[in-house]
This record gives sequence, structure tokens and C-alpha cells, in this order.
Amino acid sequence: MIDSDDPVPNAVPHLAGKEWQYVKECLDTNWVSSIGPFVDRFEREMAAYVDARHGIAVVTGTAALHAALVAADVGPDDEVLVPSLTFVATANAIRYCGAWPVFMDSDPKTWNIDPAKTAEFLARECERRSGSLVNRASGRRVKAILPVHLYGHPADLDPLLDLASRHALALVEDATESLGARYKGRRVGVAGQTGCLSFNGNKIITTGGGGMVVTNDERTARRLRSITTQARGDAKEWIHDAVGFNYRMTNIQAALGVAQLEQLDHFVESKRATARAYTEALAGLTGAEPCGEQPWAHSNFWMYSIQLDPAVWGSARRVIDAAAAAGIQCRPLFYPVHRQPPYRDCQAYRVEVADRLHARGLSLPCSVGITQAQRARVVRFLTHLK
Ligand SMILES: Cc1ncc(COP(=O)(O)O)c(C=O)c1O
Repeated sequence: MIDSDDPVPNAVPHLAGKEWQYVKECLDTNWVSSIGPFVDRFEREMAAYVDARHGIAVVTGTAALHAALVAADVGPDDEVLVPSLTFVATANAIRYCGAWPVFMDSDPKTWNIDPAKTAEFLARECERRSGSLVNRASGRRVKAILPVHLYGHPADLDPLLDLASRHALALVEDATESLGARYKGRRVGVAGQTGCLSFNGNKIITTGGGGMVVTNDERTARRLRSITTQARGDAKEWIHDAVGFNYRMTNIQAALGVAQLEQLDHFVESKRATARAYTEALAGLTGAEPCGEQPWAHSNFWMYSIQLDPAVWGSARRVIDAAAAAGIQCRPLFYPVHRQPPYRDCQAYRVEVADRLHARGLSLPCSVGITQAQRARVVRFLTHLK
């Protein structure tokens, strides 16, 4: 099998537990829609896993972000500070509120929002006006910081929490890629007002599609439960308190989620073993540098990503295309959002590192179920490419 030509996918779901049994239970008991015992159980067990008091299960990670921003009172013409190097959904959720993203640069060590540049932006570009923090260039109110734990490596949260508290901003974590990761010993997603998870097909656990907002704040949890369920006030009389959303996860999705969560620790261990194996095997390769792990971080290595020196390798795109021709599915890094057509006119504050990472970076195949032979094939490919 070692030289099998079967394609090596980038990251595919691993359905090896009680998924079938729990989904069958939904069908057998007629609990198929957006209430049911698995929804309650998934929320309870996920909240316990990340050490949060509440979990609100929703249809997607994007819906989780949108609801979390609404619950943080982000509204029309507010601004939210967000890294440019992220999936576009992070910024889209801000626009769903009628608010605007202001793009921050990446820290070259973690590839996540750069806390020092963010502090500089707040100090140099913003001022207090009648109790609100205002961006001088746009005249808009800055309401929140939205860090993303990109590819599973935690953002450096302490300086961001400090900024949020000094400037009275909400901190909402986009933890959609980082379930199981830890920042200074604590699971990510619980440092700020809310944390948002995704269970999309390529995430570390999947419900097909799905998401969750976790929070320790009782009031926020109540608000989230309401706005994700059409803001039902009096359900019997069809009275609704506000304009809500139909964002609730179904019992069938939650059944998958409960089965997947039972395997999560093993999945994280498997991703970390793949990261160790790649790091060891690629150590001798000139001009290839992995996104490592900071001493305070415990990454879930959802993606194993490297930067390639263009003087040695040419562009990352060249390597991705050559890998595809060899049946190996590598992923480009996200295209920086401040360069995406809908966001080109938005403010980007001194964004340089994100562009450089995008030009040089790629993610290697890292499914939970990847075999040693598949990893060896990836390493052989890179070793012989130059
Ligand atoms: C950083 C980031 N934010 C948000 C999302 C949105 O999650 P979903 O696809 O579940 O809507 C994703 C993943 O797709 C993501 O990678």
C-alpha cells in the first residue's frame, strides 16, 4: 500500500463511533427536528467539554458568529476588529449585522490576529467620544474584537482581553477551527463574552453542518436562545419579541455531534501525532517552516500548515498544483479577506504579514484517519519536488 496512487485528501470526516446508532435513535423515536434529547445532550456535553456554563447549538458556525455578534449588541455602522487572514464567514457575520470589519494583521508566530498591532490601532486611530470608542478615519463606533484561532492554534488572548477590557469592547472568539485546543491550559472559546464553534464536514468533529455558541454569561445565553429560535416570546400564542432567526440545530445533527464528541480527544491526539510526524520528517527540508506551537498553546492542529521560502520553492500555488497532479490534496491558506471583492473598500490596518503568509503558506493532508503511508507519501513528494 505504501506506493498506492489513491488520492490523499486534505481532511475528511472520521465517523467511527456511535453515529449510526444515535441517528437511528432519532428516526426510531420521531425526534428529527430542532428540539429533542440529543440537542439538549450535545449542548450540555459540549459546554462541559470546553468548561462553559451554556451551549446554544445552531445550524452552522457562521450562524453562531452572527448570533454571537447580535448578542454583543453589534449593530448597523458599528465596527469589529478582525484578522484579515481568516475564512470569509468571519467577516460576513459582521456584515449580517450591518456592521463593518476593520482588518488587522497576523502575528508571524501564531498566524493569528497581532495583539501589538491591534493595540497600536486602538491607541493611534481611535478616540473616546461621549462614552464610545470611535475610529477617527470612519467616524464609526468600535464595538468588538473578533479573534480567530486559525487552523487550530490559539490566538494570544491575554493581551486581547486586556484591550477589550480597557476599551470596553466585547470579545467574541471564532473558535470554529480550534475545538479541543487550549490557551494557557484553558479550552479556547470561553475567554470572552462568547465563543463560536463549527461542525462543518471538514472540521475536527462534524454534524454534517452545525455550530454552537458557548458562554458563561447567563443573560447572553438567554438572549442567544431566544434570537436563534425566532425570538419566540409566547410560543402558544405566536408572539415574538424581536426579529429572530431560525438557527436551531436539529436532533439528527446533534445525534451525530454527541457521537463525534465522544471521540474528540482521540481526534485531537491523532491530529497532534500527524503534526509531530510531519515536523520531524520535514525538519531537514530547506526553506520549509511549519506553523509551530507557542509554549503557552496546545493546538488541535486542525490543519498542519507550512510556509515555503519562494527563493527555494517558487510560489505556494506551484507546490499545491504539483501536489494535486501527484494525487495529494494540499490547501492554499485563506485569501486575505481585505482583498476579497466585497471587502476591498474596508479599512485594513498595516496588513503585511497576512499577505506574506498567504503567498507562502499551504496546509498538508491531515485527516484524523490519515495513514502513516499517506503521510510518508506527502513527505516523499515534498522531498523530491525541489
Ligand atoms: C474561521 C472560520 N470561521 C467561520 C467558519 C464558518 O463555519 P461554518 O462553515 O460552519 O458556517 C469557518 C468554517 O467553515 C471557519 O473556518
